[in-house]
Amino acid sequence: MLPNIPAAQTVIEIKAPGGPEMLMPAARPVPAPKAGEVLIRIAGAGVNRADCLQRMGRYPMPPGAPDIPGLECSGTVVKIGEGVSQWQLGDQVCALMIGDGYSEYAAAPAAQCLPVPAGISLVDAGGLPETFATVWTNVFDRMHLQAGEVFLVQGGTSGIGITAIQLAKAFGAKVLATAGTDEKCRACLDYGADVAINYRTQDFLKIGKEFTGGRGVDAILDMVGGNYIPPQLELLAREGRLCFVALMQGSKVEADFAPIQRKHLTVTGSTLRPRNVEEKAAIIAALKEKVWPLWASGKLRVFTHQRFPLVDAAGAHRLMESSRHIGKILLVP
Ligand SMILES: NC(=O)c1ccc[n+]([C@@H]2O[C@H](COP(=O)([O-])OP(=O)(O)OC[C@H]3O[C@@H](n4cnc5c(N)ncnc54)[C@H](OP(=O)(O)O)[C@@H]3O)[C@@H](O)[C@H]2O)c1
Repeated sequence: MLPNIPAAQTVIEIKAPGGPEMLMPAARPVPAPKAGEVLIRIAGAGVNRADCLQRMGRYPMPPGAPDIPGLECSGTVVKIGEGVSQWQLGDQVCALMIGDGYSEYAAAPAAQCLPVPAGISLVDAGGLPETFATVWTNVFDRMHLQAGEVFLVQGGTSGIGITAIQLAKAFGAKVLATAGTDEKCRACLDYGADVAINYRTQDFLKIGKEFTGGRGVDAILDMVGGNYIPPQLELLAREGRLCFVALMQGSKVEADFAPIQRKHLTVTGSTLRPRNVEEKAAIIAALKEKVWPLWASGKLRVFTHQRFPLVDAAGAHRLMESSRHIGKILLVP
């Protein structure tokens, strides 16, 4: 039996652009699911770097996005909108969202929901959709990473990084990952990387060239940008691909483009949040078909670093901005 749905709920509002203290609990109505949506009673909601930028007023919000942050959640389907046939009341799902995850209840498009993977706790599943969708669409849809290729991921212990290490390994690539401490490097190896590079003490260009006998790597997933761009172009092998999911160290740099022409490189990138429901649904469908079966085979592990009560979203943001975390930070209503 599902419990009654209350009229009001606690959400986390951004009172004004600023620090983590701007994240404050507030009362809001529980939404009704529109056509094509389900209402989820949230068990866990992932915290993402984009939420910090949104809080600071530095995130270009897509039109129509709600003001409440939160790009993903997990929980129980408690109400079903018109035209939804793939989910039933009581189903346990995790969902990719355009916002509203920092809530007790949220409506999400039914097509952006996935079942909670076998053996994964309902709360932990709330940290899966955003990184898995991002890695899938960039590493596999855009860069077409193939078994046997060599793949470098920057920021190996970010939510994105650990997901990328695990998926690239699961699909047969050799993986190099960078991180800022030796402890983080050990975590990269533990999640399956073949080589971990402490970027504060080691040079990823040198190590990448050595690992490939001078040939270079086939694909790089980058979130750093800035002065990483020239050595990344240099490190790529012929037909190599470089894909940006963020440019944390800056988007303007002086770089020699000759390697792009000489080595037939592809430089690309993308954002997930502004995509429409159809595009997100296609990524979710691909994950369901090609990736979700891997959970049961033991090829993937969850990587929750810490859970915070929803009302302490500020504490969760402080931890994310300290960069001490390895893996996902979750909010639990
Ligand atoms: N485009 C998209 O659709 C999309 C979707 C989701 C996320 N993203 C982006 O992907 C990034 C990761 O997101 P997240 O939520 O997983 O964040 P996160 O867990 O906070 O990760 C950020 C990571 O960046 C690392 N880092 C910082 N400077 C670095 C450097 N110079 N070299 C290597 N690593 C460095 C930090 O690790 P160290 O302590 O090791 O430096 C940290 O692990 C964010 O920038 C986010 O905005 C983009």
